[in-house]
Amino acid sequence: MPKQHKRVKSSKHFKLFIKTPAEMMHMAGTIAKALPAGTFIGLIGELGAGKTTFVKGFAAALKIQKDAVTSPTFTIINEYNGAVPVFHADLYRIGSDDELARTGIYDLTVDKGFLLVEWPEKFKSLANYLDLFLIFSIKKGSRSIRIKGKKEILREIENSKIFKRGRKYGISG
Ligand SMILES: Nc1ncnc2c1ncn2[C@@H]1O[C@H](COP(=O)(O)OP(=O)(O)O)[C@@H](O)[C@H]1O
Ligand SMILES: [Mg+2]
Repeated sequence: MPKQHKRVKSSKHFKLFIKTPAEMMHMAGTIAKALPAGTFIGLIGELGAGKTTFVKGFAAALKIQKDAVTSPTFTIINEYNGAVPVFHADLYRIGSDDELARTGIYDLTVDKGFLLVEWPEKFKSLANYLDLFLIFSIKKGSRSIRIKGKKEILREIENSKIFKRGRKYGISG
C-alpha cells in the first residue's frame, strides 16, 4: 500500500485542489464511481465555486448527458436518469424549513441513485440528512475542495482512484 494512501486514511476529512473545470468534472466522476448508491451529498460554496460543474462530471460518469444537467435554481430539484437516477437540488431560493419540506426533498426515493444538494448549509435540518459534504472555495482562479462526512463514506473515497491521482489533485489529509 502506498505511503500517501496510509497517511490520508487516518484523517477524518481531506482536501483536493482542482485547477480547471475539466479536472473538476473528472474528479467528480471518480467520486461518483466510488460512492455507494443512496449517498446524499451536500455541495457548499459561493456562486461560481464549481458546484454545478461537479454535478455535471458526477452525472456524466453515470451515463447522463452533460447537457441534461442544468442549474436547478428555479426548478429546485432536477431528476436525471442515467445508469441510476440522480437528483440535483439547488436551495438558493428556498426561504424556510416549510418551503424546503414542500420541495419534496425528504420524499425522494434515492436508494438506487444519488442526491446532490447545492446550498444545504442554509438549513440545519439537512446536516444529518446528508452523508457527505464537499466544501468548495476559490483561490486565485483554482478551486480547493474539503471533503467531510460519514466515516464509512469517506473510506470509500479514500480507497478510490482519486488517491491514485493524489499528486495531481494535491490531496492533503
Ligand atoms: N477549477 C474549476 N472548477 C470548476 N469550475 C471552474 C474552475 N475554474 C473555473 N471555473 C468556472 O467557474 C464556473 C463555476 O460555475 P458553477 O459550476 O455553475 O458554480 P456554482 O454551481 O458553484 O455556482 C464555471 O463557469 C466554470 O467554467
Ligand atoms: Mg450551481
